[in-house]
Amino acid sequence: AVYTIVDKDTCIACGACGAAAPEIYDYDDEGISYVILDQNEGTTKVPEDLIESLEDAQEGCPTESIKIADGPFNGNVLKYE
Ligand code: F3S
Repeated sequence: AVYTIVDKDTCIACGACGAAAPEIYDYDDEGISYVILDQNEGTTKVPEDLIESLEDAQEGCPTESIKIADGPFNGNVLKYE
């Protein structure tokens, strides 16, 4: 299983992730990204058919704010670092 979360502290609202993976990422009122699937808790498995766009989003983020792991984050962006 694959999980994702956005580090909202390092996101600079560049907008690339939502373009690459609009089913996964959206932006708050200030343009900061979050994971739609679970309100950025990182607890919902990313559906198989979205994995490719997930990887595109991670590669495209200039601040490495898109975190991906094979276990749930439970709201902790730095859990696996
Ligand atoms: Fe932010 Fe990176 Fe997305 S800077 S808007 S998380 S591509």
